[in-house]
Amino acid sequence: MGELEIDKHVQYILDVEKKRDFESLLMEHIRMNGAYWGLTTLYLLGKLEKVDQDAVVEWMMKCQHDCGGFGGSIGHDPHVLYTLSAVQVLVLFNKLDMLDAEKVSNYIASLQNEDGSFAGDIWGEIDTRFSYCAICCLALLHRLDKINVEKAVNYIVSCKNLDGGFGCTPGGESHAGQIFCCVGALAITGSLHYVDKDRLGWWLCERQVKSGGLNGRPEKLPDVCYSWWVLSSLIIIDRVHWIDKDKLTKFILNCQDRENGGISDRPDDAVDVFHTYFGVAGLSLLEYPEVKPIDPAYALPVDVVNRIFFGK
Ligand code: FPP
Ligand code: ZN
Repeated sequence: MGELEIDKHVQYILDVEKKRDFESLLMEHIRMNGAYWGLTTLYLLGKLEKVDQDAVVEWMMKCQHDCGGFGGSIGHDPHVLYTLSAVQVLVLFNKLDMLDAEKVSNYIASLQNEDGSFAGDIWGEIDTRFSYCAICCLALLHRLDKINVEKAVNYIVSCKNLDGGFGCTPGGESHAGQIFCCVGALAITGSLHYVDKDRLGWWLCERQVKSGGLNGRPEKLPDVCYSWWVLSSLIIIDRVHWIDKDKLTKFILNCQDRENGGISDRPDDAVDVFHTYFGVAGLSLLEYPEVKPIDPAYALPVDVVNRIFFGK
């Protein structure tokens, strides 16, 4: 077991950006998400000052399109997934004033359908992930009034299953990632009364396997990223005491590359920025010392969320 290798993980994140190796090549089309994962990790570990924020913002603004939405990289098409990451990074930097918030929120609002659901972009794929992205983004921009919140909530509720979980569209299988999106969006809109907390809490705590790790669906292998999707949902519905927190902490610590930094999905696998972020964010939810607290619904540090909503 042993502790969290903070300095090694910080160095790993800083190096990924510089190296331009195979991993950064694979990440090219989702660089905006990568920026959010890497920078939030640095913030949680108290090392955001190691980054040239002006250079990041300059690059980010080149990813924005005339419609207001952001692409995953320069020249890539806009999508709600990257638009949320861009807004989250600007919130993290306390630089939201760089944005034309009206324009960005009009773009998000244009993605809402008549039934309350959200498309991810102009091509029209519908998924509760996009409902979360739209709602989280508009809340951070103080512009939830741009959409029909009641319809958005009703659509999410129509994706609820008999096991208490949620899927990507009505009738879709329950999946911990979609559950985070739906429960998070319901939390942000003050609609948690639609969640069957005991039933969902039972399904979620059954995701813990013998090694202490969490999986995303029955019969699947444990994976560090589910420390986030499952745990954040359990915290939002106030059922986190239904899992063994110590065993989960040990599982995440066991997925560290202690030599070169970074966290992998399972012990001894290759590390990546995505799992490094969700490992650190999971430890934050587990109240691991030296990691700043993160908000389970907005997926941003608690002090950053307080600054946005309470001006603190
Ligand atoms: C599992 O993905 C995860 C999901 C389906 C949820 C994704 C949520 C978002 C993109 C919303 C934004 C999130 C944050 C934290 C701000 P997977 O493809 O790894 O699933 P698998 O394990 O079944 O392959
Ligand atoms: Zn994973």
